[in-house]
Amino acid sequence: MTSVTTAILRIPPVLPHRILEERLRAAVIHCIPDAEVDQIVVRSCPDVRFGDYQSTSLMALAKPRKINPRKLAEDVIRALDVPEWIESSEVAGPGFLNFRIGPEVICRTLESAIRGEHLFFETTKNPRTFVVDFSSPNVAKPMHVGHIRSTILGDSLARTLRILGHTVITDNHIGDWGTQFGKLLLGWKSGLDLQALRTDALGELERLYKQTNSRCDAEPALLEGARAELVKLQDGDPENLGIWQEMLELSRSQFDSIYQRLGVRFDHTLGESFYNSRLKPIVAEMKDRSLARVSEGAMVVFFDDHPELKAHPALVQKSDGAANYTTTDLATLQYRLETWHPDEVVYVTDGRQQLHFKQLFEIFRRWKSGSPVKLAHVWFGAILGEDGKPFKTRSGDTVKLADLLDEAEARALRMVAEKNSDLTDAEQKEVARMVGLGAVKYADLAPNRQSDYVFSWDKMLALNGNTAPYLQYAHARIRSIFRKQNLPDDLGVPPQGLSLSTPEEFALCKTLLNFGLVLEAVVSDYRPNYLCNYLYDLAGAFAQFYERCPVLKAEEPERSNRLAVCQLTGRVLKCGLELLGIESPERM
Ligand code: ARG
Repeated sequence: MTSVTTAILRIPPVLPHRILEERLRAAVIHCIPDAEVDQIVVRSCPDVRFGDYQSTSLMALAKPRKINPRKLAEDVIRALDVPEWIESSEVAGPGFLNFRIGPEVICRTLESAIRGEHLFFETTKNPRTFVVDFSSPNVAKPMHVGHIRSTILGDSLARTLRILGHTVITDNHIGDWGTQFGKLLLGWKSGLDLQALRTDALGELERLYKQTNSRCDAEPALLEGARAELVKLQDGDPENLGIWQEMLELSRSQFDSIYQRLGVRFDHTLGESFYNSRLKPIVAEMKDRSLARVSEGAMVVFFDDHPELKAHPALVQKSDGAANYTTTDLATLQYRLETWHPDEVVYVTDGRQQLHFKQLFEIFRRWKSGSPVKLAHVWFGAILGEDGKPFKTRSGDTVKLADLLDEAEARALRMVAEKNSDLTDAEQKEVARMVGLGAVKYADLAPNRQSDYVFSWDKMLALNGNTAPYLQYAHARIRSIFRKQNLPDDLGVPPQGLSLSTPEEFALCKTLLNFGLVLEAVVSDYRPNYLCNYLYDLAGAFAQFYERCPVLKAEEPERSNRLAVCQLTGRVLKCGLELLGIESPERM
């Protein structure tokens, strides 16, 4: 994917909300000299009838100091060195501040964006290092739709953190060690179909696993055999290690082809097995420091004084002596802290792992009590079929990711071929690829991540509504204005300076100005759906503008002004989609 944004950020830009925020902080310090000013933030006003920007931060300052928040807000407004371009600043509600900006500052900010000084966001003054742990499928099992949500959400968060100037290390924590390998090894040795392995490795591994699993259920002696294979693997038996290695490579190459298709890359893929040598020492340390104790033969951490976890002790070693998922995650965290010194570690998984991460974080706090690292579990809900049950194929199997992406592209191709008969077959296919993948990704990103969502091809591919194709179409429509008139990609600032006149132009341009605030909200709440909603609003504001304000048919200087606004809208749409991991075709 080409990047519109990397080239744009050379000069430190000054955006109106930043200036306002700085002055507001100064005013607060004037009123409360010991205030924590980092907490004073300006956001876009949720309701445009009340203003363009809003700050609700004063209330948190007033409360512990027992000051009346409205009185504080009034004092701050009085102390505020209001920038001349603020049209109104007022106290509202229980102690909010609302600000409205004037046309002049909007036009000057747009001009600096046209000159490429910014794209309505700026890099952070406080860069942090993030480890983002996402995707993390399990070896010898096909990636399914549940893994896509982690992949898509994690990738989008990583992209957004990076563009805001944070350091991001992505790590795919694949499940490449565990009890499933006992059965897999047994199956491999007794019933491997080499031909099938060559054509569909993961399919064959899955078949072996299922077959051995049901055979073990019927014949307990076989289960013993599987356990013995696992013990041999764990003890470093060369034959079993060799087979395990082969399963690993086959799985990884299949995962990689999916990642390549999705445009997702990882800085590291350190699977669970990477941490094997750390497990025993961690269990020993837990025991020595009395963080864990033996209970029914297992090593267990109890949370007696923790209201929520009291009823959920966590095992760090099973009674057979094997470490588990929790132990491995402790070792992983230890390695990440030693190696990358992150300020924050973010885990993107399904909501069913909430208890695991609560336990993990609690054990970690006791184990490394001085560590300032922030740990976040970014969880998401299930993907349901249109019948409201977990999303499955018609025959009841889990839907494989590769098949799903194929179908998305095929469905998109039907739509693209119908609408773009002037494109060559190859061009139609390329557009369909972007539209199909975009639709699937957007369907994962646009809902509140914590709610389940219903997977619907018709909804996600619709050209109307909050969908990727709608946004891609809005972008392509803007590009077509430039293409049809043979206009350069970079028009420059209109010679007489930019000016705006209609309400639709102002509404659209104010939306453009909010892009950076939205990106900041995305990373602070780990919610890419904020960006989806923003882009949907932006495309809506553009549609209204385009309906009411003629562009090519307008007289100068209006024509140049409006073309510049179109161009900036196209850039923000493209950049926003890129942060969601979605490509923007030039035509559609
Ligand atoms: N492999 C796990 C699964 O598929 C997800 C791993 C998530 N990351 C972690 N550090 N636990 O359920």
